[in-house]
Amino acid sequence: MDYVKLGRTGLNVSVISLGAGGSSRLGMQTVKSEEQASEIVGKAVELGINLIDTAEAYGTENIVGAGLQGLNRKEVIISTKYSLQKDKLLKKPEDFEKSVDASLANLQTDYIDIYHLHGVHLKDYAYAAEYLVPEMIKMREKGKIRFLGITEAFGTDPSHLMAEQAVLDDCWDVMMIGFNLLNQSARDKIFTTTLAKDIGILDMFAVRRALSRPDALAELVADLFAKGLLDENKIDRENGLDFLVHEHGAKSIMDAAYRFCRYEPGVHSVLMGTGNLQHLADNIESANRPPLPEADIQRLKAIFAGIDSVTGN
Ligand SMILES: NC(=O)c1ccc[n+]([C@@H]2O[C@H](COP(=O)([O-])OP(=O)(O)OC[C@H]3O[C@@H](n4cnc5c(N)ncnc54)[C@H](OP(=O)(O)O)[C@@H]3O)[C@@H](O)[C@H]2O)c1
Repeated sequence: MDYVKLGRTGLNVSVISLGAGGSSRLGMQTVKSEEQASEIVGKAVELGINLIDTAEAYGTENIVGAGLQGLNRKEVIISTKYSLQKDKLLKKPEDFEKSVDASLANLQTDYIDIYHLHGVHLKDYAYAAEYLVPEMIKMREKGKIRFLGITEAFGTDPSHLMAEQAVLDDCWDVMMIGFNLLNQSARDKIFTTTLAKDIGILDMFAVRRALSRPDALAELVADLFAKGLLDENKIDRENGLDFLVHEHGAKSIMDAAYRFCRYEPGVHSVLMGTGNLQHLADNIESANRPPLPEADIQRLKAIFAGIDSVTGN
């Protein structure tokens, strides 16, 4: 496993990390039991992953906590998140510590390495900066969290409106940003600034539906052609991204998707969501393969240049 420095946090993070949310929730979205899901966490650490991401909203903090039992706490970076709303209303900042304490109890630990505000929309950013950041700083002073993070609501904010605002402030040590080969807009909008400010970047949505299922990819390509967002001279209507898979290139579209993100300047660790042990091992292998051939990278950049409206979901 390769490791890199997660920006100004100084944490040494694996280039691929495990997310306990997304469409998989460690398999809990389908038929897995809590025991099977926590096994994925233990196996990920055994294979060299050292960052596990969860959130109070995912209902998987307890599974991550169980999966990490018996392991050396100091060798794992725990990332979790605060939900701004409950029952569609903003929660009170004075109750912030209760959420942190609940996460600590679920995770069976006495500190959280990276504590994020979860899926913040642009309309809530000013509130978050004024009322929640001071609470986060108090939690850091009490030793309950180590670093401040924020995640965007990429599913509904694929052009990074909130993150473009957040990146101007100096309080964020880590940001979780949506970036994949279909929507590379974070490169210019976010990563140029986070690189300059040495902010750690966790990449989400590397794969999702479109890059893990051929039918979903074909549907997306057809839709982008219909909207006039793709150029027939750059991408074949029928064969889409098949050009990426060849002897000196990617083993599969999934392999290409993880490798493309892993080597993007500014991205430190690519989150994967899975509830499947074989997928876990395959994705780790992908992230540790060399970059895609330069010609393929340039072609992907040209095909999807200017697209900031899709997520790949
Ligand atoms: N706003 C936020 O804060 C936010 C939003 C979204 C995600 N996240 C974080 O990012 C993490 C990653 O989420 P993501 O869903 O975007 O991850 P992803 O890695 O882009 O996509 C995961 C999906 O791809 C499938 N998959 C993974 N590896 C595969 C393989 N080798 N072959 C076939 N299918 C494969 C998974 O299903 P299987 O279970 O079958 O493998 C799952 O459905 C989340 O867990 C969460 O921690 C944060």
